[in-house]
Amino acid sequence: MHAAAIVAAAGSGSRLGADRPKALVPLAGRPLVAWAVEGLLAGGVAEVVVTVPAAERAAFAAALPGTIRLVDGGPTRTASVRAGLAALTGPGRTAPDVVLVHDAARPLTPPEAVARVLAALAAGAQAVVPVLPVVDTTVVVDDDGVVTAAVPRAPLRRVQTPQGFDRATLVAAYAALDDAAELTDDAAVVRSAGIPVGTVPGDERAAKITVPHDLALAGLQLADLQVAR
Ligand code: CTP
Ligand code: MG
Repeated sequence: MHAAAIVAAAGSGSRLGADRPKALVPLAGRPLVAWAVEGLLAGGVAEVVVTVPAAERAAFAAALPGTIRLVDGGPTRTASVRAGLAALTGPGRTAPDVVLVHDAARPLTPPEAVARVLAALAAGAQAVVPVLPVVDTTVVVDDDGVVTAAVPRAPLRRVQTPQGFDRATLVAAYAALDDAAELTDDAAVVRSAGIPVGTVPGDERAAKITVPHDLALAGLQLADLQVAR
């Protein structure tokens, strides 16, 4: 099974508010995107394409090994992944059997989490996402912020990346999706095409860096690892 990964790294990181695109923000001296790519390769992915902000190609090339291909992303994550998918095929390329789509914003995703997604695909899943339980009480509020209902949380899950797909299935689902559609993840794209999406256990260490506090936590996670060694 030939596995490729697309790393979505073309966002600006407006909520993080750093002086550069989020994927280039350093964590223990290395850009987030470099951590994310390393985790994918260590987990068993053979080939990685990174979607980058067009104006930042040089900075991304400097941050990553020369074997990693860069493609220009788009104005939305959906558009960026589309561009990454297109780059996986073409003259002289062997199309991968399966594709993992990952956020550069999840730098410390452990290789084991990547390997679980690949194992589910190898076992025949067309689409699979890593998930974690919801531990907080979860409620619905009205426009005034007043609680109107409690949501039973037992069947709820938080969805992470990398999300894994049979490549042909993902390509067909993106082709069927309206050009202007903007979905927050790739499982939503294949579900919109009627494909069932399976789950494997996610990992808290694969948390997404969205706001400055998340970056601080990732730094602590690394410090913790150093102490353990
Ligand atoms: N992403 C992308 N192309 C876009 C927007 C987002 O490739 N046009 C990527 C981001 O680089 C990130 C991942 O999708 O790795 C998840 O998105 P998010 O965490 O929302 O990152 P940003 O969009 O960069 O952050 P913000 O929404 O705070 O601006
Ligand atoms: Mg965003």
